[in-house]
Amino acid sequence: MTLPTPANNTKGRLLIVGATGLIGCYLAEASIDSGHPTYILVRPGSGFSPCKANTIKFLQEKGAIVIRGLVNDKELMEKILKEHKIEIVISAVGGESILDQLALVEAMKAVGTIKRFLPSEFGHDVDRANPVEPGLRMYQEKRRIRRMIEEYKLPYTYICCNSIASWPYYDNNHPSEVVPPLDQFQIYGDGSVKGMSSSA
Ligand SMILES: NC(=O)c1ccc[n+]([C@@H]2O[C@H](COP(=O)([O-])OP(=O)(O)OC[C@H]3O[C@@H](n4cnc5c(N)ncnc54)[C@H](OP(=O)(O)O)[C@@H]3O)[C@@H](O)[C@H]2O)c1
Repeated sequence: MTLPTPANNTKGRLLIVGATGLIGCYLAEASIDSGHPTYILVRPGSGFSPCKANTIKFLQEKGAIVIRGLVNDKELMEKILKEHKIEIVISAVGGESILDQLALVEAMKAVGTIKRFLPSEFGHDVDRANPVEPGLRMYQEKRRIRRMIEEYKLPYTYICCNSIASWPYYDNNHPSEVVPPLDQFQIYGDGSVKGMSSSA
């Protein structure tokens, strides 16, 4: 197996945060398949579970370069971005970790060499949708990350792909982590808020 290097690959070096997650593992695989030298940031504890360990092994065998660390460690992120000459950063941290990206955004601003940043979005356009809790907090946090990116003039792309329909039935938890609500159905807010199609 030949690891991608600048010598044999002219595509930009890409860092993926959250590659052990539901969305991130597909992003990492696609990045490798499209020929980008792909670095994945993996939390030190991640990999203890057999499922995550398998994901890391699979991506590594495909050519991903694993870096251990936390995205909310600004100094480390700066070091990684500089040392590995990262040009593109894609974040797919989970809904509970959206604000961990604040340090990453600060680090990207400090190094000043990032050509494109895709923050963890992958849902509704959070500037055009107004959910009730328990969804609202995450939207507010995603908006905060957007405003910071824009203020720092980082080149960005927001991927808005609407919602996996089953998600809100489970308080925005992973459907895989909870049993299906067969005996009761939760009404959010006062019940008058329109559903997924109401943004715009
Ligand atoms: N459209 C939809 O319906 C839909 C559905 C799902 C998700 N999403 C969106 O997609 C994005 C990703 O969500 P997901 O469900 O794929 O997330 P996930 O499965 O919970 O995975 C989160 C990933 O982020 C990593 N991570 C979290 N905090 C970190 C930190 N401080 N440093 C480094 N890595 C960290 C996790 O590492 P560990 O392996 O160590 O935990 C994991 O790899 C979110 O913005 C979410 O809102 C949208």
